[in-house]
Amino acid sequence: MKTLSKTLLLLLTICLYAQSSFTQKTKEPASLQERMQWFQDAKLGVFIHWGIYSVKGVDESWSFYNKKISHKDYMSQLKGFTASKYNPEEWASLIKESGAGYAVLTTKHHDGVALWPTKENHYSVVKNAPAQRDLLKPFYQALDKYGIKKGAYFSLIDWSHPDYPAVTRDSNRYKMQDDPIRWERFQHFFQAQIAELNANYRPDLWWFDGEWEHNAKEWQTEKINTNILQANPWAISNDRLLEYGNYETYEQTIPPTKPKKFPYWEACMTSNLNWGYHPDDKNYKTPYQVISIFADVISNGGVYLFDIGPKEDGTIPTEQVHLLKELGKWNKKHHEAIFGTLAGIEAGHFYGPTTMSKDSTKLYLFLQPNSNGQVMLKGLDNTIKKIRVVGTNHLLTHQVQSKMTWGNVPGIVFINVPATVNDQYMTVLALELDKPLKIYKSDGEK
Ligand code: GLC
Repeated sequence: MKTLSKTLLLLLTICLYAQSSFTQKTKEPASLQERMQWFQDAKLGVFIHWGIYSVKGVDESWSFYNKKISHKDYMSQLKGFTASKYNPEEWASLIKESGAGYAVLTTKHHDGVALWPTKENHYSVVKNAPAQRDLLKPFYQALDKYGIKKGAYFSLIDWSHPDYPAVTRDSNRYKMQDDPIRWERFQHFFQAQIAELNANYRPDLWWFDGEWEHNAKEWQTEKINTNILQANPWAISNDRLLEYGNYETYEQTIPPTKPKKFPYWEACMTSNLNWGYHPDDKNYKTPYQVISIFADVISNGGVYLFDIGPKEDGTIPTEQVHLLKELGKWNKKHHEAIFGTLAGIEAGHFYGPTTMSKDSTKLYLFLQPNSNGQVMLKGLDNTIKKIRVVGTNHLLTHQVQSKMTWGNVPGIVFINVPATVNDQYMTVLALELDKPLKIYKSDGEK
């Protein structure tokens, strides 16, 4: 009897689970905000530039376009691309450990080489390289398993395709206006590849690239967008899909203040000086630098897309593994100050990045090194109930200076931060406030 009721209970749980995941998948998003929510909360993504360029360790696609190497020599790298130690499960687990909520893999770079078995008559590592298998599928499956959103980088440009006009920086196969039929053939080709990716992997995020060589009409951005949303109404795209982009992408730079044009934005950045694997490039950012950039990005409400470039065999350079692990440790300790928070206060009130809890009753301060035992905060029109060092049990004391009891100008807060509470990379304080954060702006009044 006992076993029977246990079995019934199990069956009921399975049914309820199946029903809820069904409604979740079929439910249409009500607004862009609803579609973008996971992205905004993710705060961190991992970009993966993996392609045949990792064989010789040359610039991804650009090396032949910029004539550092001939197209023939570049494409000969196909013969060396083995993916022999590729362990997508390990990749996904490392990404999870870093704290990232999404990963974007280069399904096809400007060189035209697909990492999946494309049915189109064009290069792929399945058909033309010793790798000989679909490299996307097991990775996306592993991401699904770890609850990480699946991003597909797709280059619109395809400098190796016989129907694509540009070949190198100073040569073209043909002029579009002279041969519109040829361009139309190319349009059919790239739309078909996008359709394959939609059908086989149903990405959550599309990271388009290379839009600068043609306009929206030529890229048929409307059609691309319609097809993506038909396959997955929750999918989002970066702004390289031109007017159909849902968020703004900054490349190798971070905006100094909160961007005004788009409410959603991402900063993608290399971990050394290259996107793909370059064995001789040892200009790696330090963990402190990566964390500083990350804190700065989330302080302005953005998302950081941190890039790695695996080797041709599918192993990730140790320096990049180290950076992801250190970032992961720091993220774990400071979780509450990062994930699911909102952008912080405007610059000028505090010298460093800040974030805020969603109910605005907690303000997080990311400290600069050598703050000399004290940090200053101006214009806080709240009473501080408690100051905690995030990720530890330490509570800190503070003083409010220059506060007149009869006036409405808030005092200047000084927080005492003894060196003993400092994090190895960046210390974060949580200020618990009496009510939702209120900032006083004197605007020059005295
Ligand atoms: C640029 C480059 C490309 C790189 C991308 C990543 O658009 O063309 O090589 O993959 O940036 O942001």
